[in-house]
Amino acid sequence: MNYSEAKSILEKHGQGHVLKFWDTLDAVQQAGLLSQVEALDFKTITAIQALLKDGGEPAVPLGAMKPAPVVSLQASQISEPRALGEAALKAGQVGVILVAGGQGTRLGYDGPKGTYRLAPITQASLFEIHARKILALERQFQAAIPFYIMTSEGNDADTRKFFAQNNCFGLNPDRVKFFVQGTLPAFHPDGRMVLESPGKLFAAPDGHGGILSALDRRGMLADMKGRGLTTLFYFQVDNPLVDIADPVFVGVHLQRRADMSLKVCAKCNPDEGLGVTVVRDGRTSVVEYTELTREQKNERLADGELLFKFGSVAIHIFSREFLIRELSAGLPLHPAHKKVPYCDDQGKTVKPDKPNATKFEKFIFDALPDAKEALILAFAREDEFAPVKNAEGQDSPATSREAMMEKFARWLVACGVKVPRDSEGRLAVKIEIDPVYAHDAASLAARLPKGFQASGDVLLKG
Ligand code: UD1
Repeated sequence: MNYSEAKSILEKHGQGHVLKFWDTLDAVQQAGLLSQVEALDFKTITAIQALLKDGGEPAVPLGAMKPAPVVSLQASQISEPRALGEAALKAGQVGVILVAGGQGTRLGYDGPKGTYRLAPITQASLFEIHARKILALERQFQAAIPFYIMTSEGNDADTRKFFAQNNCFGLNPDRVKFFVQGTLPAFHPDGRMVLESPGKLFAAPDGHGGILSALDRRGMLADMKGRGLTTLFYFQVDNPLVDIADPVFVGVHLQRRADMSLKVCAKCNPDEGLGVTVVRDGRTSVVEYTELTREQKNERLADGELLFKFGSVAIHIFSREFLIRELSAGLPLHPAHKKVPYCDDQGKTVKPDKPNATKFEKFIFDALPDAKEALILAFAREDEFAPVKNAEGQDSPATSREAMMEKFARWLVACGVKVPRDSEGRLAVKIEIDPVYAHDAASLAARLPKGFQASGDVLLKG
């Protein structure tokens, strides 16, 4: 794209100000700005301008909604789906997608969140914990399980470096595929894109919903097809308890011929930051916690239970075909009013102290209403969900570590090991079990030496 092409398309969309400082830029800066303009998706920009005119209301009006039906499996209903899921894993039809493009602002950690060292004894990072679970599955099923990791421009290089330095934690590098998500500009209230400095548009990651176009653009959909994958397990970087490609979940998804499946658990309080699963206009959807009113969050049934009790923990399964279908359907945009650095009339960058512009993100769970068949499966929170979101308090490294150790303690107890506790019932020793050593109580029982005792800290490495 050259200057006059850029000028023409920008002016056509009311964005002529982007080239305001053109004559003051050096050749490198000019080329940088032109490539930013070239990468813009003007269809999305037009949609955003229309949204802003409407006052930037949530992309999907809430309307009348009721809780979505949730499936809870009884012990007797597990063996059939487990067999189906295991067969798909053995046949190499299942891949894993991790979204790790976020900035981890709330945790206050400088670096990709996946590099955060969380394991109670070895301090293994979140990435290592996840990768070792995939390695364990590959060994268990003697199959290849490709691992697709979505990064963003800001953390892509550091993420790749971390995996390379750690030899992909034992995974075959040919099956660890990184792909960078796209960005979206921020907008002033009048619909103009925010110029951050004279030669640069402000750009932020386009949300995990950006995964659809990123999978396509970066050749990952083709890669999945080439490897014969039919089913993709999807999860977020912040949850070390996630049961990756859980065969039972994969099996129920396949049994129901679902396009998309979700795991949900009961919210621990009305304000917990979880999206809720609802039926709206006859279609199953997730409504993000930020888009629920106070009344909706607190509404209760006659028995005192929350009406919207189940929260989505962002553990999904997609059929590959559904991802392709959704790629052309497109996802809605969610606005968020934020402090965005902007360039003043003199070309100086100003860091505002209050929100001045609107950023937009796409959410992958907005694909759900398009699923012809959707499955929502309930699970026990203590076994599968203990995210690291905040530096302290709820959902912090401390609570997440504790939940990991309690899960391992339950496995040990199931194997007949006595786990020491203090007078208040808290664990008196640290426990860490490498996923490659054991991935549940049964696999632990098969490996644990006879007469094993937890007299001090317990570290079991694969
Ligand atoms: C998210 C979900 C919420 C769910 C909760 C479960 C959203 C908008 N909400 O909330 O419905 O109940 O998790 O823990 O996701 N990410 C990207 N690129 C982006 C933005 C995020 O890859 O542009 C990734 C992050 O790296 C992370 C995940 O998406 O793995 C979630 O992002 P985060 O901002 O932490 O979402 P929450 O507000 O915690």
